[in-house]
Formats: sequence, C-alpha cells, structure tokens
Amino acid sequence: MADQYAHEAAPDERPALRALRWEEPPDGPVVVLLDQTRLPAEEVELVCADVPALVRAIQTLAVRGAPLLGITGAYGVALAAVRGHDVAAAALLLERSRPTAVNLALGVRLALAAYRAAAEQGTEQAARAALAAARELHRRDARASSRMAGHGLAFLDELFPGGGHRILTHCNTGALVSGGEGTAFAVALAAHRAGRLRGLWVDETRPLLQGARLTAYEAARNGMPYTLLTDNAAGSLFAAGEVDAVLIGADRIAADGSVANKVGSYPLAVLAKYHHVPFVVVAPTTTIDLDTLDGAAIVVEQRAEHEVTEVTAPRPSAGGGGAGVAVAPPGTRAYNPAFDVTPPELVTAIVTEEGTLSPVTGVGVAELCARSRQV
Ligand code: MRU
Repeated sequence: MADQYAHEAAPDERPALRALRWEEPPDGPVVVLLDQTRLPAEEVELVCADVPALVRAIQTLAVRGAPLLGITGAYGVALAAVRGHDVAAAALLLERSRPTAVNLALGVRLALAAYRAAAEQGTEQAARAALAAARELHRRDARASSRMAGHGLAFLDELFPGGGHRILTHCNTGALVSGGEGTAFAVALAAHRAGRLRGLWVDETRPLLQGARLTAYEAARNGMPYTLLTDNAAGSLFAAGEVDAVLIGADRIAADGSVANKVGSYPLAVLAKYHHVPFVVVAPTTTIDLDTLDGAAIVVEQRAEHEVTEVTAPRPSAGGGGAGVAVAPPGTRAYNPAFDVTPPELVTAIVTEEGTLSPVTGVGVAELCARSRQV
C-alpha cells in the first residue's frame, strides 16, 4: 500500500529549514524564529526582541518540540542578559511557559548557570557567557541529531536486514524541532537517503495538526515518500500489516523509561504491541529526566478547549488564539491534554546520541545519562 499511495517528489531546492537563529542588528539582539503556526502556508519569520515575545511564541507553538524549546529557553536567557533585563525573572517566565518538555527547563538553567558563573567578571561578560552556553547547546543538539539518525537507522536495519522500511510517525520531530535534522524524523530521513525508506506514514496529529502541517511539509521538502492519515486510521493500517516500525520523539523520559510525547503516542504503542510492531522512541539524552521517577510524576500540559472545539487553519490571525472555525456546538467542553505517557514495557527501544537502549530499563536509562555526562 505504501508504494501505491505515497507522495514522492524530488527534494526541493530551497535552503535547509532553520527553525531559530540569533541575530545582532544595530538596535539590539533578537531571536528569529520560523513561525510554525504559519506552516505550511508560508515561511514567515517571527522576530523576538524580548522574553515576553518569546514566551508568547512558545505558548502559541510558533516555536515548539522538546529539543528546540531547550535551545529557545537558553537563547531567551541570553537575550534578557544582553539587553540588560532582569535575567532571573526572565528565566522563571521561560521555564514556566510550558511544563512537559524537560529540555525547556534544562536550556534555561544551563544559560542561567553560565551567566551566574561569569557574574564576577561583570554583566557584559556574564551575558556573553549565557550566549555562549546557548550556542553550545544549539551545536550539541545538531550533533546529537546526526548521531541519533545513525543509531536509529542501524537499529532498523538490524531488525529488518535489507528491508525497505515502512515507518509510522506521530507529531513533528524534524528540523523544525532541533538544531539539526531532528529526532525520529532524522532516522526516517537517513533511511530515505540510504535508499531504505519504503514509505513514511504521517499521523495528522490532532488537534493542532503537527503531522499534517509540519511533518508532511518536511517530508515533501526532502522528497521522501510519505502518506498522511488521520490519527484514528492507524489501527486499520497496523491490521493490514503496513507498518514495520513506529518512530516517535519524546518530551520527557522519566527515570524508569516512561515516555511523555504528543497525545496519541500511547494508543500507537498499544496498537504496536498488539500487532508485534517495534515501537521506537528517538530522543537526545537532554530529554531524559532522572529527577522524574516515573510516568505518573510527569506533568502533562492541558491546553485550551478551543483547540478541540475549533479547527484552526495554518495561518491563525491572532497568534494561534481562538481564530478557528467551530466544529462543535457552542459551550461544548473539551479534554485537551497536549501529551500522553507511554510506560516502558510498551517501548521497544530508546535511541539516543549515546546509543540504543533495548529493552528499556531504569538501569539502562541511567547508564545512557552517565555516558552523555562524561563527554
Ligand atoms: O506540542 P508540541 O508540538 O511542542 O509537541 C512536540 C512533540 O510532542 C514532539 O513529538 C516531541 O517534542 C519530540 S520532538 C523531538
């Protein structure tokens, strides 16, 4: 079925996507984001000159995805520092802007620690130290991305020697969430470049359609064979034997190997188990949080009800807030968790830049972390 229905085109000639960059124009530094609420309709940049603008961008999902949220948080602290704003208050605002992706707090704390460590040398030096920490996190994420792609493809090749892989993915995990080419998507892209991707099944990912709007966009840009499906069509796809592996990212991996990721990941894991299909999580070690002991301790972000009761086109006129078309009667209540938690026993493997953990155990998760901290 994948061969029959997949969309495939030549990779387009546009330069690689850059989700975020730091710039220093004469009137002061800014963080420039590719506004993800406008994709795929248009590639529009959002220029953030202060932390409240960055926080708005984070909360409206103009910038999103765990690794990129970490990078954004770090640059946010640097932005406040270089502009001479209250750095501690800025760090708090950023850290609290979304609760689930641990990378956000990590990025903020890394830049804040660098700022504080250099404080004795004066505020200008301290601000430069925060910026250097943000740049280092950005570079480190790009390196992690290409190493995850290598480990992930090796794992798939081991499971299916010589195979043309048919991969199902959820949400968006590509260049739009990373300093490099992403997490789960980077593995699919590596398979494509190696001539071993038979098809990428892209879940649309309700309610905000990160799959339809962003993953399909990245797949098309890279000339990958992909097919979009509604989230609730995944079951019949498994039943038809059309999925070799599920590859997803993560927002937080607890010490016991529980994985928080975009809502809809857990039902895929249950389906995968029933159909004996490997369920593989691809995430940098910066997404592992040993201080969160298990899945029950992960705070899951609850988002606004209008995201479910309305459908919003990819160009929200008011920064993503309630500009959609109603699809439910007025006054309808909605349940809208942004993430769900998959227990470790449903996860076949966790692929990180430090290698692949399979089976997933708490001891193994701790070892991966220890390895990354030796570097
Ligand atoms: O709400 P979002 O769009 O920020 O959610 C993103 C996801 O759930 C991704 O799958 C996750 O951050 C992993 S990205 C490498």
